[in-house]
Amino acid sequence: MFEHNVEITKATDCLNAGKLVAIPTETVYGLAANAFNEKAVATIFAVKNRPRFNPLIIHSNSLQRFESWGITIPEVVKKLAEQFSPGPITYVVPASQAIPELVTAGHQSVAIRIPNHPLTLNLLSRLNYPLAAPSANPSGYVSPTTAAHVAVQLGNKVCHILDGGPCKVGIESTIISLVQQKPVLLRHGAITVNDIEKVLNQQVEVYNTFQNNSPLAPGMLSKHYATKTQLILAEDDSINLFEPENTGAIRFCSYHPLIPKSNQYILAEDGDLITAAANLYAAMRMLDNKGFKLIIAQPVPNEGIGVAINDRLQRASIKE
Ligand code: TXA
Ligand code: MG
Repeated sequence: MFEHNVEITKATDCLNAGKLVAIPTETVYGLAANAFNEKAVATIFAVKNRPRFNPLIIHSNSLQRFESWGITIPEVVKKLAEQFSPGPITYVVPASQAIPELVTAGHQSVAIRIPNHPLTLNLLSRLNYPLAAPSANPSGYVSPTTAAHVAVQLGNKVCHILDGGPCKVGIESTIISLVQQKPVLLRHGAITVNDIEKVLNQQVEVYNTFQNNSPLAPGMLSKHYATKTQLILAEDDSINLFEPENTGAIRFCSYHPLIPKSNQYILAEDGDLITAAANLYAAMRMLDNKGFKLIIAQPVPNEGIGVAINDRLQRASIKE
């Protein structure tokens, strides 16, 4: 506990000085800065090489705190938060004057989230501002799910990495927009459309971010969450493999029959989708570092968090 205190104090000092801190959350590690300090927020964009049109999520430890910064919380968000927050969900709500334009990318809305990680909740409770935090990876690459992942890519660019262990969920938060009449799902995550519909007793529109290019979902269209090695999604194990020994495989729960076992990563031996999600990005990174010519990924059952896993694999496989 004492060690945690020292670590959180270090993180607080960095943030108060306008510097960046990598923070653990239950989904993925975030690259955080004081959301009210435009210079600090600009550093996030620079370090990630993130296009300025792509807005950031702001994080705090309660809905009341967001309200204290002038953000009006719609009733539907209160209802959802009662069930799901702190947790792996982000709400897009009308913005307030207090939020810098750089954070919202000039939109009238702002994305808010209460992450469920004890260290980060403790950190957030000590700050008198929200943390703007995208995933702590270079723009377009796979998100980090351990402190070591952050250290490899951005270690020298942050003031501190708050190590909270491996992320339990392993996939970015569900994003639900509540700025229009109807709730619209912008990003799949651990909390599913069905989960949300049950709480709201209302249908949720699922935005097709593969086809549309709308201001409602900036930053979702392009290739994303991707390995440097070309990745393809292959349902069928009998496809013609050019060089099996130069091919890596991401598998749900069984080995590919034609690829050396040492080239393969099984996401969940017992077929549990929650385990598969927690391992997905570590698998992508591990295989990406082996110098294969190709990675083939097997889609997982398209149910529960499996929908989000397949969504990420599909985005990783988009050709630029
Ligand atoms: O799980 C997560 O959400 C992680 C952790 C660190 O909290 N964060 C994360 O941030 O995934 P990022 O920046 O990698 O993805 C945020 C997504 C982007 O696609 C962005 O376009 C969208 O949220 N977003 C942010 N503000 C928005 C807004 N006002 N309207 C619509 N989409 C928004
Ligand atoms: Mg990201």
